[in-house]
Amino acid sequence: MKELFKVLSQGDPDWSIAARLDPRRLPAHIAIIMDGNGRWAKQRNIPRIMGHRAGVNSVRTVVETCAQLGLEALTLYAFSVENWKRPRTEVESLWRLLRFYLRRELENLMRNNVRLTAIGRLDALPVAARKELDAVIAKTSSNRGLRLTLAINYSGRAELVDAVNSLLENARLRGKLDQLEVTERSLDDHLYTAGLKDPDLLIRTSGEMRVSNFLLWQIAYSELYVTETLWPDFSRTDLLEALYEYQNRERRFGGLTRTPVPLVDEEVFDFEDEALEIPAAY
Ligand code: FPP
Repeated sequence: MKELFKVLSQGDPDWSIAARLDPRRLPAHIAIIMDGNGRWAKQRNIPRIMGHRAGVNSVRTVVETCAQLGLEALTLYAFSVENWKRPRTEVESLWRLLRFYLRRELENLMRNNVRLTAIGRLDALPVAARKELDAVIAKTSSNRGLRLTLAINYSGRAELVDAVNSLLENARLRGKLDQLEVTERSLDDHLYTAGLKDPDLLIRTSGEMRVSNFLLWQIAYSELYVTETLWPDFSRTDLLEALYEYQNRERRFGGLTRTPVPLVDEEVFDFEDEALEIPAAY
């Protein structure tokens, strides 16, 4: 967090939000569904692509802030498998925008020690976009700070299907198909995100209460944070507020974190025991 305080001055409203955060309890990994670019443009009577263009500035702010906070990973949903259904002109403009982003941000990624990776069915990307993506991935590969993952042509269901097929293929190649036993661990190891911690916090902008096929396996225990703010308006303040709310949640992973009220003599509850009859008042 030290890096963040270096760029904030004491009178800055973001300073007071940041000062309320506990640096020891920051999420290691944040995932974001960047939604609302189209509505942002519509509100201004400008083409949808201008909304996406404005969204690139929010990407820069969020990447920089996560790097300054010292987080391990940030995963952004940039293009879903379903996004191909959009008008051809919008899809093509999105690929152009990806190339623009990669060219413009390389220097910034290097300065912030960010390592870029990408997940999704990347083989289907237009050749030029794929080439520039691979180049930036290679150029940033020895950076050891934030790991920024762009989910491109990504779908959680497709990822699970690809993971299962990869497990089958590996077993077939080793002649051990009949002995294949899939475990949570082995499936996890064959996801696109293998080696990446599950997201602690999933943020979605623009108020939609959906996960839209994003990281379906990995968000099993993520805290969800939905804000009405449209993605192009999502600022450093919005991110810090999401982190503040995250730190005020109690994460239990299906267990109990508070000391549980003891059961009768700490024994297994016996539902036949008359002494345990629930009083009528209840
Ligand atoms: C959803 O908004 C957003 C997308 C489909 C694309 C996200 C892309 C960017 C933020 C810009 C490019 C990003 C990178 C990393 C280069 P929407 O169009 O569904 O908005 P709407 O729901 O208001 O129509």
